[in-house]
Amino acid sequence: MLLCLEKIEEDSLERTPIAIIGCGGMGRRHLTGLAALQRSDFNNVELVAVCDLNTQNAEDLADEARQQLGARPRVFSQISDLVSAVPQVVGVDVTTDAGSHHKVAVECLQAGLHVQIEKPLAITLRGCNRILEAARAAGKVLSVAENYRRDPINRLARALIDDGAIGTPQLMIETSIGGGNQIAITPWRHQKFTGTITLDAGVHNADILQYYLGDVESAFGRSHLFEKYRYNNASAGPGGFYAKWSSQYPDRIEATGDDAMFAYIRYKNGATGQWIYHHAAHGQARRAREVYGSKGSLIAPGDRNGRPLKLYFDGGKEISDGQILEYAPSYRLQPVAAQLFGSECVWTYSFPFTETDAKILATEYYEFADCIQNQRQPEVTGEVGRRAIALVYAVCESGLAGRPMTLDEVEAVAVDAYQRDIDEHYKLV
Ligand SMILES: NC(=O)c1ccc[n+]([C@@H]2O[C@H](COP(=O)([O-])OP(=O)(O)OC[C@H]3O[C@@H](n4cnc5c(N)ncnc54)[C@H](O)[C@@H]3O)[C@@H](O)[C@H]2O)c1
Repeated sequence: MLLCLEKIEEDSLERTPIAIIGCGGMGRRHLTGLAALQRSDFNNVELVAVCDLNTQNAEDLADEARQQLGARPRVFSQISDLVSAVPQVVGVDVTTDAGSHHKVAVECLQAGLHVQIEKPLAITLRGCNRILEAARAAGKVLSVAENYRRDPINRLARALIDDGAIGTPQLMIETSIGGGNQIAITPWRHQKFTGTITLDAGVHNADILQYYLGDVESAFGRSHLFEKYRYNNASAGPGGFYAKWSSQYPDRIEATGDDAMFAYIRYKNGATGQWIYHHAAHGQARRAREVYGSKGSLIAPGDRNGRPLKLYFDGGKEISDGQILEYAPSYRLQPVAAQLFGSECVWTYSFPFTETDAKILATEYYEFADCIQNQRQPEVTGEVGRRAIALVYAVCESGLAGRPMTLDEVEAVAVDAYQRDIDEHYKLV
């Protein structure tokens, strides 16, 4: 009887018709998120169209959609054609490369569509501001698909901090070191005008730094371009989704975009941050995420690996098993995440990367459609997405100015020495 009722509820869920714009690697990954959502009791999205300037990429994604979702979406190469041919589409999921976000998002918002967009929200702060203005003018949902914070382990970390498990936070250390001189997923991630790896990947860390401890006040640091040339090792990229493209990249590309950044951070709440994002490092790779507080410390395992968090207290006390939940009484995953990950109080999990990735992306889709249907704001609004980009560029602008840079002045574009040539390239200034 219970099962019957659940089935009826599932079938009665309204499905919001959407289109995916951008059918490259992340478009393919997003499709697995839709498939995971479809298999759950929270299937509130229907993919009706896909669009890519590269028609082959769009056709291929439509074929994959037929396999994974059971229906083939319509295929377009131009957003304007999609909008006029499929008027039932009310929202789009933008998974185009970072340098195109401001153009694609503004076109969609002006066409009256709600927008979910992959991080980074835009290539510069001026790009972000254009998108925010368009969303405001259109009165549409703007949701940034920032996935790392949605990992249940990061949700638990945040609850532990909020619930005072380590006392007053004093220091957060976020470290990502590795990368060597290989092409990072795609060549565009090494060009200043299309989205450097420091922006494209660093924005995840910039979001986590602020998700854990709140808004950053200022950053003092600098960014670098260490590896002038990057080499193709034909990597299939995260989850293996890029293999069909990476074999066609040139053997060597010349990089124009920074690949490392080092910063000292001041939080609004008085805490300090140390951030290293070094994607040109040779030798020993290293990742670390640590928070030190007035009562103890929290060591986080990174993203999407499901390994447990660890709490440390004076006298050698360590908590790294299910007991950790006692230190985070407010921790509850939202129902869709709880079903996908198997519990509303997940403290560890073990799925293959692609499965974990799909579950997290499914929660993004669910929230996006729910916001459209219930006229509510998403968790990662345009403003939140912009704040993460402001932290990345605060470091870059600080390096040129030789002084700490507040995120407020970066957001207001009161400084732009680092970003100006990008903005000129896109005629944003
Ligand atoms: N959240 C994550 O973990 C994660 C991981 C990888 C990528 N991403 C993000 O996803 C986005 C896409 O990255 P990717 O690795 O898939 O890039 P990609 O180069 O593999 O794919 C981009 C696709 O967009 C298409 N495109 C470009 N401009 C377009 C336009 N105006 N209209 C229609 N199609 C257009 C391209 O032809 C290409 O097929 C980026 O913002 C990236 O930062 C996020």
